[in-house]
Amino acid sequence: RTLRARGLHLLPGVIDSHVHFRTPGLTHKEDWAHGSRAAAAGGVTTVIDMPNTRPALHTVERAHQKAELIEGTSLVDFRFHFGVSPHTVETIRDLSPRVATSVKVFMTGHHTAPDVIHDPKVLARVFAVAAETGIRLVLHAEDDGVFALLDRRQGTPRHYDQYERTRPRSGGIVAVTKIIELVRRYGTAAHVLHVSSAEEADLLAAARHIGLPITYETTPHHLSFTAADTHRLGARIRLSPAIRHSDDQQRLWDALVGGEISTLGSDHAPHTIEEKSRPAPDAPPGLPGVQELLTAVFTGLRRRFPHTSVDDSLTLLARVCSAEPARLFGLDQQKGSLTEGLDADLVLFDPEATWLMSARHAHTKNHWSAYEGWTFTGRPTTTIRRGEIIWDGTSFGPAGGVWLDARNPLATEEPATPHHPRATREPAPA
Ligand code: NCD
Ligand code: ZN
Ligand code: ZN
Repeated sequence: RTLRARGLHLLPGVIDSHVHFRTPGLTHKEDWAHGSRAAAAGGVTTVIDMPNTRPALHTVERAHQKAELIEGTSLVDFRFHFGVSPHTVETIRDLSPRVATSVKVFMTGHHTAPDVIHDPKVLARVFAVAAETGIRLVLHAEDDGVFALLDRRQGTPRHYDQYERTRPRSGGIVAVTKIIELVRRYGTAAHVLHVSSAEEADLLAAARHIGLPITYETTPHHLSFTAADTHRLGARIRLSPAIRHSDDQQRLWDALVGGEISTLGSDHAPHTIEEKSRPAPDAPPGLPGVQELLTAVFTGLRRRFPHTSVDDSLTLLARVCSAEPARLFGLDQQKGSLTEGLDADLVLFDPEATWLMSARHAHTKNHWSAYEGWTFTGRPTTTIRRGEIIWDGTSFGPAGGVWLDARNPLATEEPATPHHPRATREPAPA
């Protein structure tokens, strides 16, 4: 069969290192059949799935069970971020790089976040153990501990505006400050997730400036929406962390084009339309986005930086959507080697295509998108996973996605170089 590529750009397959495909236990919100189709249609060939399922992903045994549930239903290859609860901190030691290269830490509780670590001593222990084993922590940058206490004291009602716009903003700053301090103390490799505000970006730039091993992610939705869109979209864009203001958004765009941001993760976290239609405080935070990731950010780059060439915009996206996630999470090794060849995970992308996003195009299980009504620029026309076409612009290929672990024949017995370059440990201040 002939593949037409005239006028198209060839990109590395997108690695979305932040999705919630909800298996096991929350499959009314999303499942791998739908989530992975949304991924393929968005140019994504590998996803790293989050652990906040029911039950949460805490043990190696559960990872094998989860992979068994998924294989045969997923179009894309996958890995897992492990979870950690106050009772499973030492379990991190069981994780070989072939099973997982990262552990997600929540410092605040919400709808789908069961494993919260509030106790500062336990949190410090997580950083210490991760530094010893070399595994990377990926952190949900929200900590509203102090504010929650104040709430309880004063009996403050959780007024929507206050909750969305004030408290979680301070929570992000508190969380990032704590993370920086713990990385400084233990030398843990840390990747801060869904960074949303200008203050957080400033703090992280400072941390990087002094050489701490901290990287960060932002999301397509924090780059695409502002609090003003809440009037129109309501709880559809209720997120954790919340959508911020236009000055925050501008800071994030500048950080992206300026090279401060290492990865873009979709934080694809679907809920049903019914769940999202509940009155504001009860509507769960999260939205689908794995399909929109590449196109939404490309659209934003074309609009906001019209003097940047298409080539330069796509080069930037290849870095933050493929090269950096591969490097941070050891996927470059799971996917072959630069000398012996890598898997053919590729996307043909049409930068000239303009098209109207609608619910009809949304392949996520509950078929909705916060981008409905947007005119997108750019479209993945063909997605190829390990040499096999899984999206040809209208239809999907076979569900041959595999767990990129020991069963992957490309993974050597012992990685030639360590998966997790050990972070250099700074001496603790006297
Ligand atoms: C996520 C979810 O629903 O699982 N929601 C969200 O708003 N981001 C949880 C998360 O990513 O922390
Ligand atoms: Zn999170
Ligand atoms: Zn998430």
